[in-house]
Amino acid sequence: MRTRKQLIKAYIDFFKSKNHKEIPNASLIPENDPTVLFTTAGMHPLVPFLLGQPHPLGKRLVNVQKCIRTQDIEEVGDEFHLTFFEMLGNWSLGDYWKKEAITWSFEFLTKVLKIPKEKISVTCFEGDKNIPRDTESAKIWEFLGIPKSKIRFLPKSDNWWGPAGKTGPCGPDTEMFVNGFEIWNDVFMQYNKTSKGYLPLKQKNVDTGMGVERTLAVLNNKSSVYETEPFEKIIRKIESLSGKKYNDGKEETKAMRIIADHIKAACFILNEGILPSNVEQGYVLRRLIRRAIRYARKLKIKSIVEISESVFEIYDDYNLDKNFIKQELEKEEKKFLKTLEQGLKIFEKLTKGKRYLSGKDTFLLYQSYGFPLEMTKELAKEKNIKIDEEGFKSEQKKHQELSRTATVGRFKSGLADSSEEVTKLHTATHLLNEALRRVLKRPDIHQKGSNITPERLRFDFNFERKLTEEEIRKVEELVNKKIQESLPVRREIMSAEQAKKIAQGVFENKYGEKVSVYSIGDFSKEICAGPHVKNTKELGHFKIIKEESSAAGIRRIKAILE
Ligand code: ALA
Repeated sequence: MRTRKQLIKAYIDFFKSKNHKEIPNASLIPENDPTVLFTTAGMHPLVPFLLGQPHPLGKRLVNVQKCIRTQDIEEVGDEFHLTFFEMLGNWSLGDYWKKEAITWSFEFLTKVLKIPKEKISVTCFEGDKNIPRDTESAKIWEFLGIPKSKIRFLPKSDNWWGPAGKTGPCGPDTEMFVNGFEIWNDVFMQYNKTSKGYLPLKQKNVDTGMGVERTLAVLNNKSSVYETEPFEKIIRKIESLSGKKYNDGKEETKAMRIIADHIKAACFILNEGILPSNVEQGYVLRRLIRRAIRYARKLKIKSIVEISESVFEIYDDYNLDKNFIKQELEKEEKKFLKTLEQGLKIFEKLTKGKRYLSGKDTFLLYQSYGFPLEMTKELAKEKNIKIDEEGFKSEQKKHQELSRTATVGRFKSGLADSSEEVTKLHTATHLLNEALRRVLKRPDIHQKGSNITPERLRFDFNFERKLTEEEIRKVEELVNKKIQESLPVRREIMSAEQAKKIAQGVFENKYGEKVSVYSIGDFSKEICAGPHVKNTKELGHFKIIKEESSAAGIRRIKAILE
């Protein structure tokens, strides 16, 4: 099995044959978990269902999930670290347990992937003072024919998974290795980590995760994930743009891996409507693009934009928004290239004959030359120089306080920059919701999902076809008209019963007895927890940047305030 598409199909077909239902590949931006920036595992979008809410498709689920893990950006470049990857997963929501999960994992590995049993080894949780040793899993492995010598018991630091955020479902796991290389993890989620410690979950769940790139590396006898099919075209493209070969030398290999991983991840983050910025997801995106540009420069590649085309080819099943992605990559590249050369010269000057770079100088590189802290750190490491990270952070804080004071003066509100943006986008979402109903003349349109970052809003609603350009323009016009009318935004508290009669709001069962209803002039009334601006004139100019399908019968709009 050589390609990602072949492996994904084999996995999903296998679990479908065991009565699993396939669920969609969710957004990279977690819908319900503000404690993390990106979806890091297939179970992430399933948290409410692992906690006990019934899933509409039942108790056995399977999918492939796009994931981003950012804790290791600086490690990328070795054989195995990736920022973006795909994870195959199957779940039991209070249904089957260890015996079925492990038996099916073993069957898929040996019968479908045809991995010889002798190459497989596993680990299980050794237990601690609160949670017992997982002898049950070990016995199942032994029964399947894995010898005792290839079953190791390891502590919590190795054989425990989750929660994905700060709290949530987690449990002991059993990990599968082929020739010593981990490719799959079955987690037995029966605990909920809360502020009070580990509590038993209502139901016992199974959560598994198999890395697509890792498994392809194993199946094709490759020593690195970068040598698998989902990277081939990207590496070839980088080779042709640079005139160098992946195997020319250590430096070339490392640079090509970094560029390939980072541009791939950047394409997928941009596809969520996130733009490069200095906060949250936007900052991660900026770091990825700028780090890729710095390594591209080492290989004498003039522009990284074209590399995205090889990403679109490999992932043609994702329907990535090519024009938007290329346009934004180009903008960020232009912005950075303007200051990169000069910034590198300043860096040389500041560090000449020194072993140390002050917080103030590190901040200067960040503020005036657009060098993310991590990039300066990396540059410094190459020259064996230490930087004052604490000093940098206190400079940054001083600067943020100054700009916050300025913002507070302007808006007479105590909110920080980023939540101010989010607040405005919240109100804009209500205007958009109502504008859609009116322009499309469909009173039955309502919210199917919403996700707001400081950069943009994302709104899902029921509608069966693509909006025309004319309709998009009309929706924008109506929202902007309401902004210009300086409508007051008011909050009333009422019973859920009463609210349902007079206001929009779809997640009825999520609300308690009393709910808050926000009205915007006479234009819109919606049940919502807020927060919102006081008057629509605070919003600026509303613009739709994307309209696309999100699922059958559901459209998705991404919009910004300028
Ligand atoms: N959620 C588990 C993991 O990411 C399966 O390894």
